[in-house]
Amino acid sequence: MTGLIGGSGLYEIEGLSLLREVPLSTPFGEPSAPYRIGSIGGSEVVFLARHGSPHRFPPHRVNYRANIWGFKALGVERIITVSAVGGINRGMPPGSLILLDQLIDMTCGTRPSTFYEGDRVVHVDFTDPYCTVMRECILAAARDAGLPLTDGGTYVCVNGPRLETAKEIQFFASIGADVVGMTAMPEASLAREAELCLAGIAVVTNRAAGISGGKLTTTEVVETMRGSLDAVKSLLGGVLLRLPSSRGCTCKNALQDSCL
Ligand code: HPA
Repeated sequence: MTGLIGGSGLYEIEGLSLLREVPLSTPFGEPSAPYRIGSIGGSEVVFLARHGSPHRFPPHRVNYRANIWGFKALGVERIITVSAVGGINRGMPPGSLILLDQLIDMTCGTRPSTFYEGDRVVHVDFTDPYCTVMRECILAAARDAGLPLTDGGTYVCVNGPRLETAKEIQFFASIGADVVGMTAMPEASLAREAELCLAGIAVVTNRAAGISGGKLTTTEVVETMRGSLDAVKSLLGGVLLRLPSSRGCTCKNALQDSCL
């Protein structure tokens, strides 16, 4: 079963024939919303609105551990995330879709970020934070559908909820970030600790602070996201058909040789 995490502006998936809603409680607390289990074009999926439905958890208050734990408990093996981001790279204007390949975590220490708090000492490899097999499937689905999808982008994750200063964005550009957002971490590293495959599709909803030249608004973020949803949804449909039934990547053995 494949999991989908929808960020700002993506609270449900049209075309998902809903079979049931599962409210879960986990050892780490409550996930953001009930999991919506259904099928898209015959493929079984589990959808979760990252910020709750309706939107009520700001990025720094999302219970990332509960969200990922819940997917694992439901038997999900792969997760595709969709997230709104600000564009730092000038070649990634609003409306661009980016298939992420790298992360820079500026939230370290601000959010609970591991399932292993002491009973077991675990250091998972995170060289490639996103599943390389899923990335290939998503790129192939985009090619088939004729959808422009940028192959690779570095997401810098900030704590928020405020937006960035112009100088912070200049700094992030200088260290190689292409886009900025508030939710990719610790979501991605928790998925790795849970031995789940993860892919991240970023929707550029605005030019980042200081690049835009004007005031940033959440209205712009939500409206641009809305304008990109048809493309995202048709991409997801194609991806689900392409994912191989069994996993041949290393994500499923992430804990092997990672524990002291
Ligand atoms: N900064 C941080 N997070 C965001 C942005 C941004 O400009 N746009 C959408 N999410």
